[in-house]
Amino acid sequence: MQRNLNVKADRPSPEREFEASVLHGLSRRPRAIPAKFLYDAQGSALFDAICELPEYYLTRTEISILRECAPQIAALAGPARQLIEFGSGSSVKTRLLLDSMEKVSAYVPIDISGEHLEATCRRLRGDYPSLTVVPVCADYMELQDLPWVPGTGAPSRLGFFPGSTIGNLEPADARAFLQKARQLLGDEGALVLGADLKKDPGMLHAAYNDSAGVTAAFSLNLLRRMNRELNANFDIDGFEHEAFYNGGAGRIEIYIRSLRPQTVAVAGQRFFFDAGERVHTEYSYKYDLGDIDSLAAQGGFARVRTWTDPDRLFSVHYLVAA
Ligand code: TRP
Repeated sequence: MQRNLNVKADRPSPEREFEASVLHGLSRRPRAIPAKFLYDAQGSALFDAICELPEYYLTRTEISILRECAPQIAALAGPARQLIEFGSGSSVKTRLLLDSMEKVSAYVPIDISGEHLEATCRRLRGDYPSLTVVPVCADYMELQDLPWVPGTGAPSRLGFFPGSTIGNLEPADARAFLQKARQLLGDEGALVLGADLKKDPGMLHAAYNDSAGVTAAFSLNLLRRMNRELNANFDIDGFEHEAFYNGGAGRIEIYIRSLRPQTVAVAGQRFFFDAGERVHTEYSYKYDLGDIDSLAAQGGFARVRTWTDPDRLFSVHYLVAA
């Protein structure tokens, strides 16, 4: 593992980071807690359940698009590409690319979680014995370079950023991500980007407010997690999940909302919530092709190919370094 590329030796422990983020996020106005803290073990299991919901079309639609277009991506990428994944997670979607790209010279997953990374690498090495897997445990935004892979010439790199994760970044951060990807992938680089599309607001609303209440459980698990890990005393029934489409900003906005005036203790500090007061957790930006083109241009890329599903719900783009 490329621990030498893990830049921040002084990174706080995960427990301390959660506590510090929550105390800071509840003290500021508007209140906000970063979405990454939704994904503890329970939260990750609930998110997996969200991906199976009839209303949550994103994951299954992206997978169906990738299944169709992977051979075309492989043709565009050409031989001997290194596949670089930004935030590799569980690598289910990666396999769709790897299965089509017989000539991939190496797979370089980048993830901040060493545990996830090791599990993913173990499984992939088992299933693709001839693939060179070079994990990088780091925050990709802090990387200055990618590892040199033994036995390869001048690297020609294909980046992969699926899941509409780009949509969870605010515009300035989305731009910064693309600029970083452009720097790391180099002048011959290309990037496969998955992005959720703008569509009927009713359908967007349903995707984040499912009728079975799984999304609400996922959202409110953040309160349960604070109760478990930060010695907090949130009354879960005193809060609700709120998500709506803000058409002007082109994004779903997600909050946890207090149903009544109440005071809550978290890690020894007391926080007062007014009735209706919200804690922001996530934005999920939706794109059209014009949005993707301007974002790509700001990041130093050009869009050369786009694939969508028949209902134009989701999109996968092939961007090349401009
Ligand atoms: N990345 C997911 C998305 O933007 C996150 C998500 C889905 C989410 N449903 C949610 C986050 C509900 C918070 C609450 O689609």
